[in-house]
Amino acid sequence: AWDHLSVPLTPAPLDRSPYLLAARGERPSHTPVWFMRQAGRALPEYRKVREGITMLESCMRPDLVVEITLQPVRRYGVDAAIFFSDIVAPLQFAGYDIEIKPGIGPVAADPIRDAAGIAAVRPVTAADVPYTTEAIQQLVSELGGTPLIGFAGAPFTVASYLVEGGPSKDFAKTKAMMHGNPDLWHALADRLADVAIAYLTVQVEAGASAIQLFDSWAGGLSPRDYERFVLPHSAKVFEALKPYGVPRVHFGVNTGELLGLMSAAGADVVGVDWRVPLDEAARRVGPKPLQGNLDPALLFAGWEAIEPEIDRILEEGKSAPGHIFNLGHGVPPDADPDVLQRIAKYVQTRSA
Ligand code: CP3
Repeated sequence: AWDHLSVPLTPAPLDRSPYLLAARGERPSHTPVWFMRQAGRALPEYRKVREGITMLESCMRPDLVVEITLQPVRRYGVDAAIFFSDIVAPLQFAGYDIEIKPGIGPVAADPIRDAAGIAAVRPVTAADVPYTTEAIQQLVSELGGTPLIGFAGAPFTVASYLVEGGPSKDFAKTKAMMHGNPDLWHALADRLADVAIAYLTVQVEAGASAIQLFDSWAGGLSPRDYERFVLPHSAKVFEALKPYGVPRVHFGVNTGELLGLMSAAGADVVGVDWRVPLDEAARRVGPKPLQGNLDPALLFAGWEAIEPEIDRILEEGKSAPGHIFNLGHGVPPDADPDVLQRIAKYVQTRSA
């Protein structure tokens, strides 16, 4: 009869955090803000702790992952942290030979051409990545009321690195595989869906409050190719994460023509780059919260130019049932941290 007394009168602060409220389409006290790639070279404190340590090594050290993830939260006062890792990190953790070259990006030693190449790609198990679980558990406890976003690379974007062998502008080899050998393509994309599911599951089970699936380069595809070759595999990832009940965010660059399809893949929240205004994005996505979309180039334009852009984006964001303020893509390495700090503060006070 007294059971109801054990129900807390005020919900847990994390659960009522602006980021999670906006991601669920509820009304937060202010528009939440965070920045994609907020951890990294723009921060002198990041460059300092990374000195002489490779990206992969740093991802395997819980002390560094915790410190690097917290750096932008301290510096910018953002409404969410994003787990420090990379879209190719889970492949490396499972023994796949891929390197992150500074200034270039992921480079695969043995680009995938056939079924034997796919066999070398394995999803991680929790037993492979005790450092991931440890880092996330510690982060969640240190972050308190600030949510931690877990993430993974979507099948297409990760496949593009594995098939091309490194960064690409036209994805010619990847598209050639899709159309020329669709069975091989679907086998690879299905395997990469399992890679994303496994890594996201480890992160959510360790305490991540939301997940973001990065399909950064999907904008290189026509809607027709996206629907046939990519959507089913990204949908598999979202479906597998559904039982956890955490918001599932989907983002890519240059995806104006794909926003409806990326929403249909199963995202709860859709990330938008700067090319499509949020009110137009809301029409394309349907009634879902949106994330975005200040052009990162504006970071270098001076405050007089930035402020009206933020005002416009906050206004356009009202067309969606929830709005998480972000850049339209990641923080450039040469961005000025003071500008990012000022943007975070301005968004939070202006929208309160
Ligand atoms: O703060 C955060 O956002 C968390 C960290 C994060 C990294 N990579 C760390 C990183 C996240 C979310 C990613 C995702 C990622 N990695 C994406 C999707 C997001 C996007 O930007 O579209 C992609 C496409 C990659 C692949 C990748 N890894 C690239 C293109 C690069 C840049 C190469 C370079 O040096 O310019 C990386 C390396 C990488 N990942 C760095 C960081 C901090 C830089 C390496 C370093 O600091 O030594």
